[in-house]
Amino acid sequence: MAKESVDYSKYFTAPNLKKARKRYREDVQVLDFEQIPEDMRNIGNGQSYLIKTYGCQMNEHDTETIAGILNQMGYTATEDENEADVILFNTCAIRENAEDKVFGELGRLKPLKLEKPDLILGVCGCMSQEEAVVNRILHKYPHVDLIFGTHNIHRVPYLLKEALFSKEMVVEVWSKEGDVVENMPKARSNKLKAWVNIMYGCDKFCTYCIVPYTRGKERSRLPHDVLGEVRELARLGYREVTLLGQNVNAYGKDFKDMDYRFAHLMDDIRKIDIPRVRFTTSHPRDFDDHLIDVLAKGGNLVEHIHLPVQSGNSRVLKRMARKYTRDEYLTLVDKIKKAMPHAVLTTDIIVGFPGETDEEFEDTLSLVREVEFDSAFTFIYSPREGTPSAKWEDNIPHEVKKERLHRLNELQDSISRRKNEQLRGQVVEVLVEGESKKNREVLSGRTRSNKLVNFPGPRDLVGQLVNVRITEPQTWTLKGELVPEERVEAL
Ligand code: SAH
Ligand code: SF4
Ligand code: F3S
Repeated sequence: MAKESVDYSKYFTAPNLKKARKRYREDVQVLDFEQIPEDMRNIGNGQSYLIKTYGCQMNEHDTETIAGILNQMGYTATEDENEADVILFNTCAIRENAEDKVFGELGRLKPLKLEKPDLILGVCGCMSQEEAVVNRILHKYPHVDLIFGTHNIHRVPYLLKEALFSKEMVVEVWSKEGDVVENMPKARSNKLKAWVNIMYGCDKFCTYCIVPYTRGKERSRLPHDVLGEVRELARLGYREVTLLGQNVNAYGKDFKDMDYRFAHLMDDIRKIDIPRVRFTTSHPRDFDDHLIDVLAKGGNLVEHIHLPVQSGNSRVLKRMARKYTRDEYLTLVDKIKKAMPHAVLTTDIIVGFPGETDEEFEDTLSLVREVEFDSAFTFIYSPREGTPSAKWEDNIPHEVKKERLHRLNELQDSISRRKNEQLRGQVVEVLVEGESKKNREVLSGRTRSNKLVNFPGPRDLVGQLVNVRITEPQTWTLKGELVPEERVEAL
């Protein structure tokens, strides 16, 4: 049966994957967030909102921006969905199961919406950038009031106002957008650690990946805006920033009139008085020697590098369009390890990519053995509509994919355990983040390499950097004891 096709373009701005694929030459515009108009400032007085966030740190941070805007409109945050007047799903499209969860949630909330017709139910984030998703919501989830895309966040006041007063579903998703919007309000969820976008979008077009379509073209924030934000966070007492971009090594490539790249940015951030600076995610392809030199200077630049490899086989890497070979990846890892002997490497790996043979998968295992990552995010390949690989036969049986994932995880766990074991008896620097969820007598925090450490200690250490001796390493966490005042070289 042919699918029903509705021309909704006359009612809304809807997404288009083909358009999203295009990369336009137009210069990136840096716009200022328009102040929220007077008549929208108090729209949310006495009302509350709940944002459910899926996906990567980029999305978590977008949620902080949306929350910042809603706060300025008079709304307050709530955790209770029965109390909320606005519920937004900030969604992720990276794998099918991420999407399934959201559709499940939208279905689950239908009775609540029927009971409370004034409730505004909205969908934003990467799923809203997909035509098929928007169509499905229009047809199967008509109780949704609002859909907006990743390029439309600054438009939230207008969109929400429209949703409040309109009977139709409000949809605004721009497919092509090359702008950077500065000075959006942010309700940061953590008082110690902050996210800072340095660039948006991705132009890499790995054949399996939906992100270049959902996040648009690569565009960098101006150095002075990034540095200004980090300085302000330092002034406010934040202890750590994580610089965000889908491919941070491409930072600055789009600047026409200056040669200022990620290494330059890191070198400048190094001089800001904030104890820890992280970044994610770096693509192996553009990881240059200049960057390694700068990172090796250490200081507030922590020695943790998340370097997604995806596969250990050059043929698979080629089909993935990752633009590096196994050997090039290994050479890069060697260079990093030489320049930064304490570097902790973590990675992302996909198993069961179309056509992946047993031998090709074995190459992934051997690469993992050779590099010895401290940890890895491992995924079963999930075809995403609109990407090149979705047209190729997804020919690895699910059982085989599961088996490969299992073998890979077993191997990685044993390496993680061994790596953590090497820390037994060592003293590490820990940023104390709070009490352990399980035991209030125990504090928890992270090492420079982002490992979770639990140790007994007084509450007033929260927010401080302390030295902790590791007494009991485990696979995913470390137990330790406080080393008071002792001046020791901490890892
Ligand atoms: N920009 C980052 C990755 C962002 S997505 C980078 O290039 O490193 C996070 C991870 O999700 C990817 O590294 C990849 O391992 C995984 N991923 C992306 N698309 C996927 C798909 N279609 N199926 C399974 N895993 C996928
Ligand atoms: Fe996706 Fe590749 Fe871009 Fe990462 S670099 S976001 S995997 S297209
Ligand atoms: Fe998901 Fe979008 Fe991030 S697809 S991983 S939320 S960029």
